Amino acid sequence: MSFTIAIDGPAAAGKGTISKAVVAHFGFAHLDTGLLYRAVGKRVIDGEDALAAAQGLMAEDLEVDGLRTPAVAQAASRVAVETDVRTALVDFQRAFAARAGGAVLDGRDIGTVICPEADVKLFVTASPEVRAERRYRELSEAGHNTDFATVLADVKARDERDQGRAVAPLIPAEDAVVIDTSHMSIADAVAAAIGAVQARR
Ligand code: DC
Repeated sequence: MSFTIAIDGPAAAGKGTISKAVVAHFGFAHLDTGLLYRAVGKRVIDGEDALAAAQGLMAEDLEVDGLRTPAVAQAASRVAVETDVRTALVDFQRAFAARAGGAVLDGRDIGTVICPEADVKLFVTASPEVRAERRYRELSEAGHNTDFATVLADVKARDERDQGRAVAPLIPAEDAVVIDTSHMSIADAVAAAIGAVQARR
């Protein structure tokens, strides 16, 4: 039987951490849909056409190195405004959502566009400053040479593009449970997410 959990929210709000914890708790499969757009964005940086990259995307493409860089994140956010690119990625995501045994998909439009019938919808958010601080720490720890002001500007630019685009903009689904992690510990945010899922099971 399928059971779909949609986890949406802006960059660096804690979706990845919460998704992994929910998956570990319930034994579901996880798809980080940002990786689809990152894989397409990376191919565009490498000179490929965005639509051709999206149409030819395979599961192995999500495993390649170098998808987590700020440059690829910006490229992903740029290809993500293209309607035909988004359309080319729909079937892959819906097939994943329908798999037996339960699935967690995290992204921007899972609860609104990809899986409007999801069993549980979470919208995980936090202030731009808190998200930039987390992303800055992550990037510094991974050895990237950057500064807080640049990361904050990147976060805000990506928010603007993700929220302002005409197709599938980042907005909470009407029936989403909103979790604002700005002043929450990871443990509390995870507990809130697991509690919301348990309430619908
Ligand atoms: O979640 P992320 O930071 O890896 O996502 C990278 C970009 O991909 C994000 O800025 C917007 C786009 N994206 C999207 O438009 N829809 C999704 N479901 C997931 C990501």
